[in-house]
Amino acid sequence: MNRILVAILLLLPLRLASEVPHGVKSMSVEDKARAVVGLQRKLFPPTNNGIAGRTAPLPQYGLPTLALADGTAGVRLSRTAPERSTAFPDNNALASSWDSSLAWEAGDAVGYEAFGYGVGVMLAPGINIIRNPLCGRDFEYFSEDPLLAGRLAAAYVRGIQGHSVAACPKHFTCNNQETNRGRVDARVDERAFREIYLKCFEICVRESHPWALMSSYNQVNGTPAQEQYDILTGLLRDEWGFDGIVMTDWSIVEHNTAAQIHAGNELLMPGLDRQIDDIVEAVRSGVLPEEDLDKAVERLFSLASRAGTPREPGHPDLARGAAVSRKAATEGAVLLQNNGMLPLTEGGSAAFFGVRSYDLIATGAGSGYVKPAYISQIYSAFKDAGVQPDAELEELYLKYVAFTEADIRINEKVKIHLGIGLPFIPEMPLSRTLIDKAAERDDYAVVALGRSAGEGVDRSLKDDYYLSETEKDLVSGVCEAFHAKGKKVVVVLNICGVIETSSWKDLPDAILNVWFPGQEGGVAVLDLLTGRANPSGRLPMTFANDYFDYPSARDFPYDHPTEGRNYDYTDYTEGIYVGYRHFCTRDVPVCWPFGYGLSYTSFSYSGVKVKKGKTALTVSVTVKNDGGRSGKEAVGVYVSAPSGGLSKPAMELKAFAKTGELAPGASEVVTMEIPLSSLSSFSGGKWVTAKGEYTLHIGADASNPVAQAKVSIKSVK
Ligand code: GLC
Repeated sequence: MNRILVAILLLLPLRLASEVPHGVKSMSVEDKARAVVGLQRKLFPPTNNGIAGRTAPLPQYGLPTLALADGTAGVRLSRTAPERSTAFPDNNALASSWDSSLAWEAGDAVGYEAFGYGVGVMLAPGINIIRNPLCGRDFEYFSEDPLLAGRLAAAYVRGIQGHSVAACPKHFTCNNQETNRGRVDARVDERAFREIYLKCFEICVRESHPWALMSSYNQVNGTPAQEQYDILTGLLRDEWGFDGIVMTDWSIVEHNTAAQIHAGNELLMPGLDRQIDDIVEAVRSGVLPEEDLDKAVERLFSLASRAGTPREPGHPDLARGAAVSRKAATEGAVLLQNNGMLPLTEGGSAAFFGVRSYDLIATGAGSGYVKPAYISQIYSAFKDAGVQPDAELEELYLKYVAFTEADIRINEKVKIHLGIGLPFIPEMPLSRTLIDKAAERDDYAVVALGRSAGEGVDRSLKDDYYLSETEKDLVSGVCEAFHAKGKKVVVVLNICGVIETSSWKDLPDAILNVWFPGQEGGVAVLDLLTGRANPSGRLPMTFANDYFDYPSARDFPYDHPTEGRNYDYTDYTEGIYVGYRHFCTRDVPVCWPFGYGLSYTSFSYSGVKVKKGKTALTVSVTVKNDGGRSGKEAVGVYVSAPSGGLSKPAMELKAFAKTGELAPGASEVVTMEIPLSSLSSFSGGKWVTAKGEYTLHIGADASNPVAQAKVSIKSVK
């Protein structure tokens, strides 16, 4: 055997030994098992302050405990502790901005507060695809489109991780309903799985390298997601290059512990004592190879080296988060209707109708809930700005809110979402006499309608997706009374996702959707309705004419089953035709399309150029502000593939960007890249790219592109 070969063989063990951190090499199986199971809550340090979970401390090996904190709207602290954190707008709002730089700012602000509170891992962002409007956690997710979701989530992750805090995109994968979420089997075909439900995670992982990721409760095609080696290792690590740790969601059903570790979970949360015993037994019996356990512990060491600087909770400056929260609420709002009523002139008097005008819902319930130091209310924001709210309405609503909140709380009527009860106060019926009096004395009306939602339960059709009778009467009564006096009405939507809008949208003069806008929601509504800020949001999901127009309508637990279809299993029969991919391809009319949103100014597009490079198309377009107010414009590029061959959606979003603030008359050249690989479809176990002529539709509104270009693709390497 020649000398070189001998040298290599001699060095090999040294290389391996040097690669494995000293801790792992000298750890017992019991200690390694302890490291990969979440710390028991009873062992948390007293300064726990609402932390969702912790990793086990093994200081003798140099492994600190890491605090894991929720959630998708900011650092979720305990509701009873004195400390507060910033409540940011939900991910529907962030996605509506179509602005990666804003998503980064939001992540950066969250990462700053998380570091300040001693958090090592933020359990965010939620990036599952919005497949159906009734999913109870849609507010925590971004979009029906995987590119918009994945790219904005990646920016958010980079923002968080800039503070030595790990982000943890979740829930990997196909966690698209809350009904029976611990066991439901998501049955999805390979193409839809790859092109839609995995794609948002793939983009996020490749573009931001999150240090953690959360595997989901549910099954996918018959196997628990937390036990799928092919997905958690074969795809996530070997194909996408993920180099962080995977933690399980807070398992609510018994799992095969050895299979979870072997599949590629490095941390079993929340952590049960029996899991430590399971792992030791599995290694001893040979069921679980010890190197699987070693790999898991090595990755925990790696996480600790990135995000593990142990620190006591401090007192971060919340003003920083408040400013970003207000900006995100403003830029994430979508102006859906405006017949010239907006922007409002300042001053005067206004009639504020709707409980949400006085009791805004800043965030959703469950782990996505954040209790901020304050919530800016719509009516008081206008009052502080010199608008006189109708005094009778103010007195009546404030007393109704106070009484109802007390009644719900003291009589324990509130629906508890996993320990975070949000007393959702139902709309208050109003007499027509009172509405008529307000129409007599006030200059205009604001009607705020709201929804609550939270993990663990899906939404309903009645009085949730569809307006309640009380809400319908309120909107129609106020519109009739104020229009009879030649006065105008704006409806503000403070909602958790899509609701039915077609049947009533033409009653008011304007509709502004602010989603769950976070703690600064009231002032954001003031800024937007008065024109201090120009709305620039674009819908990240389709508002259909009716629930049953959604392709997933019947393949979703809309009727809250307790067994069988949509409970034990859910068939994703729509395949890749989710959202606009369905509505545009089949020409199904909608109320407001994906990418829709109004502004107080107008923009024109010119000079479209498409440059074909070896690996990407570079698309540039000049966007000009033709109107009288400064504003921002979201730009999308949808691509229609050559006809023939594999069936494809009429168009798919392949790039997007947002201009800076353009003054009247100013223009900006917007340049976007479309990797040629992103034009491919998944068929027969691989990505394939159709050759031929592609059409590029430019503009954010999927149903109304403002410019086009064509490009021929002959081959993709
Ligand atoms: C919950 C949620 C997850 C959250 C975790 C910790 O069940 O599914 O999003 O981060 O538990 O609270």
